[in-house]
Amino acid sequence: ALQILIVLAVGYLIGSVLPALIIGKMLNGVDIRKYGSGNPGTTNVLRTMGIGPAILVFTIDVLKGVVATLFAKIVMPDDVVLGVTLAGFAVICGHNWPLYFGFRGGKAVATSIGVALVATPVITLVVIALALIVLIIKRYVSLTSIVGSILYFFAILIFAKEYWFLALIIMVVIIIRHRENIKRLLNGTERKIGERVKLQ
Ligand code: G3P
Repeated sequence: ALQILIVLAVGYLIGSVLPALIIGKMLNGVDIRKYGSGNPGTTNVLRTMGIGPAILVFTIDVLKGVVATLFAKIVMPDDVVLGVTLAGFAVICGHNWPLYFGFRGGKAVATSIGVALVATPVITLVVIALALIVLIIKRYVSLTSIVGSILYFFAILIFAKEYWFLALIIMVVIIIRHRENIKRLLNGTERKIGERVKLQ
């Protein structure tokens, strides 16, 4: 029981560190949440700050998912599936509702990728490759994220049932966090990848 609390707390605290907000402040002195889509994530950093900062943000956000779940594997070696599921849930919650930034965080796409890479590496890489086809054809990162999370859920049901609850959490949270994007996709105002937005 103590292990469970530690895994949840560490996951939440790791998730709450938002590189998009930190790098936006450090490089440009701005709160990224006031620009573009308002989301403190890779896509909005790419849109407002460019490719270098975006790669950095993506890498750190993925690593948060990786580190939180690897930590759970060490702390709960006898119950890896439960540990990874709890850590995944906690790090995603931290990223989306961060302790240090007024509970206004992101959508946890990159962080969920990190979690999924530890849980089911091969399935995750295949799903990413398939989802990227959506990005190449439709050019919407949000649609790619949503389709990817749904593909991952069904792939897990077929090939790694033990992680069904983790995949369900990832899919439901990603869809809920993209509701503004879904509205924009439906009314044709969603920005495509490559469209820039000026800071200030
Ligand atoms: O990384 C989240 C992505 O799916 C959408 O980001 O900024 O277009 O809302 P954004």
